[in-house]
Amino acid sequence: MTTTEFKRYLRLAVPEYARGHVRAGDFDPKKALAKAKAEYAELLPKGVATPGHYLYTIALAENDKAIGMLWFDFRFRLDKAQRGKGLGREALGMLEQQAKILGAVSVGLHVFGDNAAARALYEKCGFRYSSMHMTKDLY
Ligand SMILES: CC(C)(COP(=O)(O)OP(=O)(O)OC[C@H]1O[C@@H](n2cnc3c(N)ncnc32)[C@H](O)[C@@H]1OP(=O)(O)O)[C@@H](O)C(=O)NCCC(=O)NCCS
Repeated sequence: MTTTEFKRYLRLAVPEYARGHVRAGDFDPKKALAKAKAEYAELLPKGVATPGHYLYTIALAENDKAIGMLWFDFRFRLDKAQRGKGLGREALGMLEQQAKILGAVSVGLHVFGDNAAARALYEKCGFRYSSMHMTKDLY
């Protein structure tokens, strides 16, 4: 999803979500809209670039016309006692299978640079670096 597409999505989705709350009798329209805006901002603080969240525009193959969107997030954590037994690799394999069934042609993820275990796992599973953030402490 491009930033422009994301803005369009928010213009549609935020009021829709707020109307849901109004229909459910949770809030009055003004409060519901403010709450919907705040929730989206909290969930996606960096918009389409929010780590761990994957937003796609669904487009028709014949003319590339945008007809919808898909948003999923990918979180991955094993209990400490269960790590290093191959379970993470297995779970990742299952995710890839599910993504293929859903029609995905690739999967992407964000990992912090200091997370050696996760990076090693992803590299072993065939993930390659598609973009990198670099930071230098000035003090
Ligand atoms: C990342 C995580 C899911 C990996 O799961 P796991 O079950 O421990 O990993 P696996 O046992 O399947 O290991 C697969 C490969 O990853 C690498 N790896 C796993 N743990 C490692 C560690 N502590 N140090 C270095 N490499 C490691 C190895 O290359 C390993 O392959 P090998 O067994 O052939 O040596 C797990 O460590 C975890 O829950 N970490 C905390 C949360 C987290 O960091 N999530 C990822 C967010 S992006």
